[in-house]
Amino acid sequence: MIPHLKVETENAEKTRSVLELSGNLNKNFRPIKEEGYILWPVTEDTTGDIIFRSGIPSKDSSGDYRSLLPKEIAILAPRAFDVLGHVAIISPEDSFSDFIPEISKALLTKHKNIKTVATDGGVGGDFRVRDLKYVSGDENFVVLHKENNFIFEFDISEVYFSPRLSFERSLVLNQAKINESVLDMFTGVGPFSIYLSKKASHITAIDANPLAKKWFFNNIRKNKIDEAKFTFIEGFAEDAAPTLTSKFDRIIMNHPTSSLNYLDISKNLLKDQGVINFYLIADRLKEEPTPNLPFMESPHWLIKDSRVVHAYSPSKELRTYELYLSD
Ligand SMILES: C[S@@+](CC[C@H](N)C(=O)[O-])C[C@H]1O[C@@H](n2cnc3c(N)ncnc32)[C@H](O)[C@@H]1O
Repeated sequence: MIPHLKVETENAEKTRSVLELSGNLNKNFRPIKEEGYILWPVTEDTTGDIIFRSGIPSKDSSGDYRSLLPKEIAILAPRAFDVLGHVAIISPEDSFSDFIPEISKALLTKHKNIKTVATDGGVGGDFRVRDLKYVSGDENFVVLHKENNFIFEFDISEVYFSPRLSFERSLVLNQAKINESVLDMFTGVGPFSIYLSKKASHITAIDANPLAKKWFFNNIRKNKIDEAKFTFIEGFAEDAAPTLTSKFDRIIMNHPTSSLNYLDISKNLLKDQGVINFYLIADRLKEEPTPNLPFMESPHWLIKDSRVVHAYSPSKELRTYELYLSD
């Protein structure tokens, strides 16, 4: 059975472009029409109103690169892989690791937009950079990625970036008010900062990765935004944030494996009515609200909203919380 995301027909096209951008659309199957709804075939980690159907295979199943592989390799080869710009990224598994050269060749032949194939040993270290290994094609990891009318250029072996957050970034921009002052505490190559610059009066961005600053300003220029709107601080948030003298309407805390360590600093930087968009890797839950998090019990914080951004692993999910200071 194939997972399908159920959406009302009027939202079908918008949802399709979001799924396509985030890589969650399963193109091996066709959408299904059901009274008032469209069911989009999606990858297994997609969240939302998921229902299972046997799936209608796409007419053009020749779009599947595995059709170029010998049968014994095709059954082991991964159906899904990430694509960032021109780079296809395979998460290697023992079952097919011996066949990665054949799999890469098939990917390069089938998909003309793919120029480079790499394997990804996972995101790690303080800077959350992918452990990439070049496999074949051009040895070039500088990618151009477009989402929601924004454009980002960066070296995926140097800095963090996740295309799966594109919908989340749109939601935060939607929620933002005109002329907000923003602190983007773990900015990376600046995607949240650049989205929010459409509404914010000023954005202070911090990142500890010494390679992030170059890509951050490169992306500001690429998106034709006035550089004067931004202050970039290269350094660790624990050192830089306490030295800031102004308070903010919005603080973005997207460092989901460590963000809890920085909540105390943020408390002193948030205006009275300000909000923190806080991201956290949490246990997968069937019921709301999420229990057992320090700010659930804390007298300092009010949680206005909490939702799943996407699945992270079979037992974990990326969650976001809107946090406000209590009186
Ligand atoms: C999960 S990434 C998020 C990047 C960005 N917000 C985005 O959405 O693409 C976390 C970022 O925090 C940075 N980082 C890690 N520890 C840090 C610290 N103590 N202070 C400031 N930045 C840090 C990393 O270099 C990385 O760019």
